[in-house]
Amino acid sequence: MNFKKELAEILFELLEGEKTVNELELLIEKPKNASHGDLAFPCFTLAKIKRKAPNLIAQELSEKIQSPTFEKVEVVGAYLNIFLNKQLVSEKVISQIISQKGEFGTQEFGQGGNVTIDMSSPNIAKPFSMGHLRSTVIGNAIALIIEKCGYKPIKINHLGDWGTQFGKLITAYKLWGDADKVKANPIKELLALYVRFHEEAESNPSLEDEGRAWFKKLEDGDEEALSIWQWFRDESLKEFSRIYDLMDVEFDSYAGEAFYNDKMDRVVKLLEEKGLLVESDNAKVVELTEEDLPPCLIKKSDGATLYATRDLAAALYRKETYDFVKSLYVVGHEQSLHFKQLIAVLKKMGFDWAQDMEHIPFGMMLKDGKKMSTRKGKVVLLEEVLNESIAMALHNIEEKNPTLADKDEVAKQVGVGAVIFHDLKNNRMNDIDFSLEEMLRFEGETGPYVQYTFARACSILRKGHWQADTPPQTYHTSWEKEWKVVSFLMEFPNAIKRACENFDPSQVAKYVVDLAQVFNKYYAEVKVLEESEERSARLSLVFSVTEVLKEGLRLLGIKAPEEM
Ligand code: ARG
Repeated sequence: MNFKKELAEILFELLEGEKTVNELELLIEKPKNASHGDLAFPCFTLAKIKRKAPNLIAQELSEKIQSPTFEKVEVVGAYLNIFLNKQLVSEKVISQIISQKGEFGTQEFGQGGNVTIDMSSPNIAKPFSMGHLRSTVIGNAIALIIEKCGYKPIKINHLGDWGTQFGKLITAYKLWGDADKVKANPIKELLALYVRFHEEAESNPSLEDEGRAWFKKLEDGDEEALSIWQWFRDESLKEFSRIYDLMDVEFDSYAGEAFYNDKMDRVVKLLEEKGLLVESDNAKVVELTEEDLPPCLIKKSDGATLYATRDLAAALYRKETYDFVKSLYVVGHEQSLHFKQLIAVLKKMGFDWAQDMEHIPFGMMLKDGKKMSTRKGKVVLLEEVLNESIAMALHNIEEKNPTLADKDEVAKQVGVGAVIFHDLKNNRMNDIDFSLEEMLRFEGETGPYVQYTFARACSILRKGHWQADTPPQTYHTSWEKEWKVVSFLMEFPNAIKRACENFDPSQVAKYVVDLAQVFNKYYAEVKVLEESEERSARLSLVFSVTEVLKEGLRLLGIKAPEEM
């Protein structure tokens, strides 16, 4: 099925081991222009080894490649342009997709290794921001993609549920809080208290001392402090869960920052033993001058621990608990410095596995070109965004397909899918502009476009009475008109592999849009349902497209409704 590999093996024999099969496979290209064949092999790098002009080498090789798969070999300069046997290859690809039942594209190179994915990780008592949405969506897709490649993902929600801000929040709640209001509208109310704290602290600095004192109590396990904190945490999680339910995202662990409260002493002790901890302005830091980084703050002058201290403890805990082969942190690029420091400190401590940790950064979500801010009480409530998207999708359905069964469920799948796809379709480092109208369009590079293409293909199969469990034994077609679609279908495993290796779900998103486009073009040109010898081959192709689109969307965390 991997025709590049098949070609690489033939070249390997012909070249008598001058390069490995792997090296050869990497050299093989996919020509942009179909008239240059399906695969191309440049002979430049062989010229030195063979001491011969590259075009001569190409000529010699072209005469020797003989295989039913590779039907025709043309020489253009130093390139071999290779044409696949359309009939043989198409039938192989189609029958594999049909027989593998959703497993097409599944790979094993992950070898069951554990990969922890720190994702979503919103802060308690604060709104779930667009950044947290991006982390959730990207992290979830990475988990699905690496799982497809044989890794075992462990999704960790490293909740921001600890730190001096909780001392401030408790102070504010004790002064001005109202339990009923908090229960009715937890995040909004707690945020208002937090904002008020900062406003009043400007004229009344003693509030800051009180906040610090409450956090100290919290760290020391004071009962009252803990119970208020626990309550804030529970109420906030209830709100977050509604968002996770909408998006159908689950976590393997909710061990947030507070979980490491009793695990930080050990880190501090280890740092001390290794002579890495130094005093600076009464605070304790690890110097990172050799690494060209600012010092990493471990303990404040009042003895309070920090975000970084908890991340150090978390890293150790994760290595010991999961023995990861990779440990990912899906967090906005604003925190790049933090993760550089974190990894540098662990390396200084002598933990070789720190090299398996990787920050997976992403760009910002903008609205009208500006950052969407949650500060100063100006809140963009994500749940509202998702619900608005669902409502707009429902409106679309009412207009286009009013008799559809299950309208609400489909609207949810389309509305949420639109938001997810919009996030994943670009390289994750790009900033993205938030626009519901744009996301929900049925044309162009959108989630609904791919979902709609899938639903349309399903409807063709229904009309054609296609039976997946009794695929045709023989196909009567040359596969000429189908070739473009087939050559996209066979690229699916490569797109998944690229997405996995670069932790880049956009590779899969781009792939599904391209496949949808190529398929729609085919469907506009070929009358699939018309009675003809080719009909069953064509329906097999349509079915294969539905299988791959559905699986591609699944890997992004998006549902594929069969009707919409
Ligand atoms: N709660 C943090 C924030 O909202 C993100 C946490 C990311 N994960 C981590 N292990 N530091 O900024």
